[in-house]
Amino acid sequence: MKFQAIKGVRDILPPESALWNRVEQAARSVFHTYGYGEIRLPIFEPTELFARSVGLDTDIVSKEMYTFEDRSFLAPEEIRDFTSFAEFVVRAERAFKAGEIPQTSNNASALGEMVRYRDELAEAFRGADPTRGGKDLGTFTNQLVQPYRLLGPVFALQMGPSLSLRPEATASVVRAYIEHGMQTRPGNVKLYYIGPMFRRERPQKGRYRQFCQIGAELLGPSDHPALDAEVIEMLLAFFARMNLNGAKLYINSIGDKNCRPAYVKLLRGELQKVRDKLGADSQRRIETNPLRVLDSKLPEEQAIIDTLPHIADHLCAACREHYAELKRQLALRKIEYEENWRLVRGLDYYMRTTFEITAPGLGSQNAVCGGGRYDGLVELLGGPAATKGIGFAIGTDRLLLSLQEAGAATKCGLEVYIAWMGVRAYPAAVALARKLREHNLSVELPAQQMKFGKSLNLADRLGARFAVILGDDELAAGEFTVKRLADADQRKLAEAELLEYLTKSRTA
Ligand code: HAM
Repeated sequence: MKFQAIKGVRDILPPESALWNRVEQAARSVFHTYGYGEIRLPIFEPTELFARSVGLDTDIVSKEMYTFEDRSFLAPEEIRDFTSFAEFVVRAERAFKAGEIPQTSNNASALGEMVRYRDELAEAFRGADPTRGGKDLGTFTNQLVQPYRLLGPVFALQMGPSLSLRPEATASVVRAYIEHGMQTRPGNVKLYYIGPMFRRERPQKGRYRQFCQIGAELLGPSDHPALDAEVIEMLLAFFARMNLNGAKLYINSIGDKNCRPAYVKLLRGELQKVRDKLGADSQRRIETNPLRVLDSKLPEEQAIIDTLPHIADHLCAACREHYAELKRQLALRKIEYEENWRLVRGLDYYMRTTFEITAPGLGSQNAVCGGGRYDGLVELLGGPAATKGIGFAIGTDRLLLSLQEAGAATKCGLEVYIAWMGVRAYPAAVALARKLREHNLSVELPAQQMKFGKSLNLADRLGARFAVILGDDELAAGEFTVKRLADADQRKLAEAELLEYLTKSRTA
């Protein structure tokens, strides 16, 4: 059998992984200058965390999460005979009491059935005479066991909490913020994260089932638009550091709980008037989440959507002022943007500021970053109501695609290849390799001797910048021959000069 990575997930191989590292390193260094510290979060969380924060009606929660029941410690697969069944019932009862398995009425009644059946079986086994029927008191027999009575409640039991691989990390950051009482820290809490997220989406270019995000979140008592603008400034500083050209920033305000409900009602009313002209998805969303109709990419819906009321005309005074100030703050920072009234974002926790950045070379999946303000989320998850939040997440896979389309180098970074020949040359080659590596140079030392021609050819194919040639002549002269492979420039140097020459011409 030949194994392959499953659909929608990928291996990142060298030399491409070097570019990933460069991107992540640049993010760390730029975010550091804005006072952000790294938070390392778990990959899975209670399903409920995402259901509450991202929202039950969103695509992410309703169809894209990888959800499983964490059941291993009860081990129902160990049920083979009466004794192991009885032990399972004891384990399950204990776990239920301790809250290790969900204390739901479903679980209580499944447990009740199991206990009843265990007691009946115990009774039946007691009455069975091993000298006549040869019934083994320890092992289930056909006469004694009714599989549906045994397996029914075992399968009905929810044996552990429902967990999900994280589809995004804002919910986890907020969970951690509350769990660790981070509101007591001075000033704003500024956190960034780098890591994989999981969504069961239809894979295509730039859309994967496991993808990486670089995200940042700012939590604190203030919702001043200067914070929104600074978060965006940091994001653009990072893109500039990566030389990402052609990125475009789109912004919008989607109001708050005071003004959005009235707008949603108005929108729903307008959409109902044109229901017949809309596709099935949008028709459903009229009821569940009319704002998401604005996200539609269906060509036949575009003309209709153009006629719908804009949220900007329905913001309350506070949201209008917040949005106007955001634009002033962006102008102050000389940040160019375009307003997009249809930018509502696909997660429920947003309010007021939303933004997205697109990058060239990505086809239809061209959003390389999305973010926004989520002032009610900390409270929704049980934290202090006064805490506000704003943040973003960059899709690293898409950023890499865009950088590569623009010709970003993914060179292997091998600096020196040591071509040695002769048994006497090998110890010198080993010592030289170690010395060069101590100076942080990337060195390839072939384990077996090769003819110089073959060795240099391999050096070339590996993409090495230099080949150091070490044979009997060099040993005799106490020198090394070094060849720059790009232009075949060749010189003979003593060890100290060689070190200086190589470290000076090191790649960045
Ligand atoms: P999001 O818009 O769902 O927002 O994702 C952010 C970015 O992750 C997208 O712009 C895209 O670049 C990337 N992305 C999303 N799904 C995929 C996928 N299937 N394959 C490849 N890349 C993908 C959030 O996740 C929010 N948590 C952002 C945020 C942070 N808002 C406030 N704070």
